[in-house]
Amino acid sequence: MKMTKEQKYRLLEQAEPGELEKLAARAESCEWRQSYHIQPHMGLLNDPNGFAFYGGKYHLFYQWFPLGTDHGMKYWYHVTSSDLANWTDAGIGLEPGGPYDSHGAYSGSAIEKDGKLHLMYTGNVRDENWVRHPYQCLAITDGNSMGTKLEQPVIGSVPPGYTEHFRDPKVWRDGEGYRCVIGAQRDDLTGTAVLYRSNDLLDWTFEGELQTSLSSFGYMWECPDYFELGDQGVLLFCPQGIQPDGERFRNIYQSGYMLGKPLESNGRNFEHGEFVELDRGFDFYAPQTTKGPDGQRILVGWMGLPDLEYPTDDKGWAHCLTLPRELSLRNGKLIQRPAAGLIGLRDREIEFSAELNEESRSFAGVEGTAYELQVAISPSASDSKHGTFGIQFRTGENERTVLSYEASSGRVTLDRSQSGALPGPDYGTARSCKLGDRHGSRTIEFRLFVDTSSVEVFVNDGEETFTARLFPDSASTGISLFANGGTAAFKGSYWSLREGSIPRGLPTGILE
Ligand code: FRU
Repeated sequence: MKMTKEQKYRLLEQAEPGELEKLAARAESCEWRQSYHIQPHMGLLNDPNGFAFYGGKYHLFYQWFPLGTDHGMKYWYHVTSSDLANWTDAGIGLEPGGPYDSHGAYSGSAIEKDGKLHLMYTGNVRDENWVRHPYQCLAITDGNSMGTKLEQPVIGSVPPGYTEHFRDPKVWRDGEGYRCVIGAQRDDLTGTAVLYRSNDLLDWTFEGELQTSLSSFGYMWECPDYFELGDQGVLLFCPQGIQPDGERFRNIYQSGYMLGKPLESNGRNFEHGEFVELDRGFDFYAPQTTKGPDGQRILVGWMGLPDLEYPTDDKGWAHCLTLPRELSLRNGKLIQRPAAGLIGLRDREIEFSAELNEESRSFAGVEGTAYELQVAISPSASDSKHGTFGIQFRTGENERTVLSYEASSGRVTLDRSQSGALPGPDYGTARSCKLGDRHGSRTIEFRLFVDTSSVEVFVNDGEETFTARLFPDSASTGISLFANGGTAAFKGSYWSLREGSIPRGLPTGILE
C-alpha cells in the first residue's frame, strides 16, 4: 500500500493517535525480525550515517522513516556500541523539519571537533513545485542527546555545473583542517563526486571535482567515502545507472570501490584502478566506514536497496544494517572480515567433519535461524578441477538457500531462488563470482552469519562477500553439506548466536 506524498512527508508529531504503537506492534510480531542485526523499531531503515568512534564508543546512526515502509521523511536514528556486536538504543539522532531539511535529514557523516561530535548531512527540501534543493547542514552533539542544528547550512548552494542531485557529505581530517567528498550529478547527467575544504567545519570552500578516469559512469554517485588504508587511497561510492556486465553489476544500483594513490592534501586527482563491487550478493548498498580506536577501518552497509519492494513492507518495517566488517588489503583487493567483537555473540559450538562423494549430509544440532557457520571444503586432488561442493541452509519443505563452489570454474554461487519470499525477483535469483588465483590451495573457506532473514557470506577470509536478505518459513532451519560430481573433505564449526542486544520494542524518548 503506497503512501501519498502528504502521508510520507510527516514528522513524528503528525502521527495519528496510536499509529506508532500499531506499527511497532506489527513489526514486533513479524516472523522475519532479526535477532542480532540493527533494524528499525518500525518503519524504514536505509543508509548507515555518522559512523564514528567518539567518547570511548562507536556511534552509528541510520536513515529512518518512522511512519511507514516508504522512503518518506528521513530522521537519523542513533545506536552506540563498544564491541560492534551489542548495541544500545540512543534515540533519535537528528530530527528533520527545519527550513533547510523540511523534507528529510538525508545521509551524512560525523567527526569529532573540540570534544563534540559534529554531524554533517544533507538537508532535503522540496519546493512547491516539488523541485529538490539540497543543503549541506551541520549539527552538534555530545553523543548523549539529539544533534543541535546550526541555523544556517554550511554549504547553501550547489556549485555551477551540477544538478540538485548533490548529497551525502563524508568528512575527514586533513592536516590541520578538514575535507569532505559529496556525491553529485553533472549538468550532463553523469555521476561524480566533488571535494570541499574547511578549517573549522563551518566555512567550506569548493575545491572542484574529484578527478577520476570515469567521465561517464552512471547518472548519479551516492554516498561517497574516501579514506586511506595502508599505502592506498580508497574511494567507495554507489553509482546508479550502470548496466549489468556478465556477473557484475546485477543489482538495481551498485556499490563499490577503487584503490589508488592517496590524494595529495591539495590535490583532486585520484589515480585509481578499476571499480570493483564491494559485495557479490543481492542486498547491499550505501556503506560507510570509520576508523576504530586501534586505527582499524570498519565498514557498515545497508542490507537493502532503494526502489525495490521487500517482503516485510506490509509488516510495518523494512531493512536492517549489515554486520560491521573490518577492512584490509590483500593482493591488491579490499578484504572484508566480520568485526572481531562478533565472536562475543557465539554460544554453543558444534564441530563436524565428513568426506562426501555424491551425497549430502546434515549433523545433529547443526541447524537454526541465528548462527555462525564456518566450513572448509577441500576437493580431493583428483576432483579439484570438477565437482560442485557446498552448503544448503534454511532448508525445509520446498525451501533451501544454496551456497556452492564449482571446482572447474573456480566460481562461488549464492542461489536464493528457493529461499522463500523474494525481494527484487526481476534482478535474478542467483549471484556468482569467480575467485582469484588459489595459489595452489584446494581448500575453499566459507564463513556464514545467518540471522532470521539474512545471510552474510565471507569467502576465503574476506576475499569476497555475499550479502542477502532471505525470507524463508520459520520452520526452514536445516543445514546440509553436499558434494556433486566429486569427492571433498568438509570440516566445520557451528555456533548458535545469542540474541544480540539490539534496540527492541518502542523507540527511546518518542512515546510516553
Ligand atoms: C542512498 C540515499 C542517499 C540519500 C538517502 C536518503 O540510499 O538515496 O543518497 O541521502 O538515501 O534517505
